[in-house]
Amino acid sequence: MEEHEVYQAIGSEGFERLIAAFYRRVPADEVLGPMYPASDLPGAEKRLRGFLIYRFGGPEDYIAERGHPRLGMRHGRFAIDDSARQHWLRLMNEAFEEAQLPAEAEQVLRQFFENTAAFLRNRPG
Ligand code: HEM
Repeated sequence: MEEHEVYQAIGSEGFERLIAAFYRRVPADEVLGPMYPASDLPGAEKRLRGFLIYRFGGPEDYIAERGHPRLGMRHGRFAIDDSARQHWLRLMNEAFEEAQLPAEAEQVLRQFFENTAAFLRNRPG
């Protein structure tokens, strides 16, 4: 499956389930919990979901609201070392288990998350 076909395969509903399952786990995570805005977790959930919908072939509401993603810059103020990267990917693994998306779409998304998490690492260790 190509990246731009993922939205067609799982729809907004698929992204909604995956990203809700991820954010449900964020507050209890000892590394990620303190990094995310406790007062605006629904907003953070919406930003990640909207970005992914745009990135994987769906409507571009995210771009209209947030402009160019510039993920590297937008993560600069968070200390993303190897531990933070692993915590993020672990919560996303659990979210995949819960969301039960079609295997082909899951594979494309997992690859993207692995690559992007490695790219966003911005602190040694
Ligand atoms: C590697 C570990 C990562 C950490 C610790 C991390 C942490 C964060 C935090 C704390 C925020 C702010 C939440 C908010 O208010 O929006 C954020 C935003 C965001 N993250 Fe990550 N992130 C990580 C990986 C990723 C990955 C792999 C992606 C790609 C799918 C991603 C995409 C985003 C997006 C799209 C936003 C919102 C950007 C905006 O419009 O402001 N992040 N991240």
